[in-house]
Amino acid sequence: MAENAAPSQLTGEKKRILTGDRPTGKLHLGHYVGSIENRLRLQDEYECFFIIADLHTLTTKPEKEHIAALTDNIREMVLDYLSAGIDPQKSAIFLQSGVIETYELNLLFEMLISVARLERIPSLKDMARAANLEESMPFGLLGYPVLQAADILLPRANLVPVGKDNESHIEATREIARRFNYLYGDVFPIPDVLIGDVPSLIGIDGQAKMSKSLNNAIFLSDDENTVNQKVRGMFTDPNRIRADIPGRVEGNPVFIYHDAFNPNTAEIDDLKERYLKGTVGDVEVKRKLATAINNFLAPMRERRASYEAQRGMVDEIIAEGTTRTRIEAQKTMALVREAMGMYRISERR
Ligand code: TRP
Repeated sequence: MAENAAPSQLTGEKKRILTGDRPTGKLHLGHYVGSIENRLRLQDEYECFFIIADLHTLTTKPEKEHIAALTDNIREMVLDYLSAGIDPQKSAIFLQSGVIETYELNLLFEMLISVARLERIPSLKDMARAANLEESMPFGLLGYPVLQAADILLPRANLVPVGKDNESHIEATREIARRFNYLYGDVFPIPDVLIGDVPSLIGIDGQAKMSKSLNNAIFLSDDENTVNQKVRGMFTDPNRIRADIPGRVEGNPVFIYHDAFNPNTAEIDDLKERYLKGTVGDVEVKRKLATAINNFLAPMRERRASYEAQRGMVDEIIAEGTTRTRIEAQKTMALVREAMGMYRISERR
């Protein structure tokens, strides 16, 4: 139904959120508890702009083969957003590279922060190291937080829900906004950062944070059988070799997941009590966990199927969200040029 893609009215009364992700592929349960949940919760209270930060991927991966992978990653990520419950009637989901005002504001912001200040941002060194670019830091990677400031301030966002790793970038955004307002007059709000409660969910291997590259993730798009299989293979208490030995609940991934995804707290309490006493087997704990996760994912599967059945819908939603965001970006750029007092070429010559 084309109705799904119809633009909703931007009222201008609500405060604004801008956040988003680099399109690196499928989202998993860790993304859900870390940030998607916050976005769903705030979707009605705020006017939301969700950015697909394709330009940011170029800071470490400018090669054509990586660009070629973006199209699939973008569609996959947006389908995950929509399945999770982000409503395109309410919120704009937009492509960063399609809002060309981003490039413009990015350049103006480059004048408002020092190289030394950017060099002190720890995540940039980490990213450079991870990409083997330590000895040849790209100019654009150093500018990563400046580009992010342009993203956030183009729709003049008030709140930025992100993971802990992005906190220092939002601090740079605040400094740039203050500096702009000081030099040219009040155009930008000073946006607040909102860090998620569950910054990292342990993977099914019980060894590290859930991550696609570590092969320890349950994806939002996993089907019922895949979830059953993954949960059956989950790491539990390694010292508990038989069901009649008392086990550890604290820090045990199966119980961390029960707490996060099973709404039946009476069932969880009962399982924990029997686990501590050694009167329940891992098999039962896992069977109930798989059921809980499948119940949690069921409405997402339904929404996914309905979006997938509408060919081209995802692309239409991105196009529409990008148009909506550009309208706001253009308004901001007019204010920016006005505030700066830049020479303007007259239209009638
Ligand atoms: N830096 C974010 C990441 O780690 C992606 C991103 C780009 C972003 N622009 C943003 C997040 C603006 C919040 C706001 O993937």
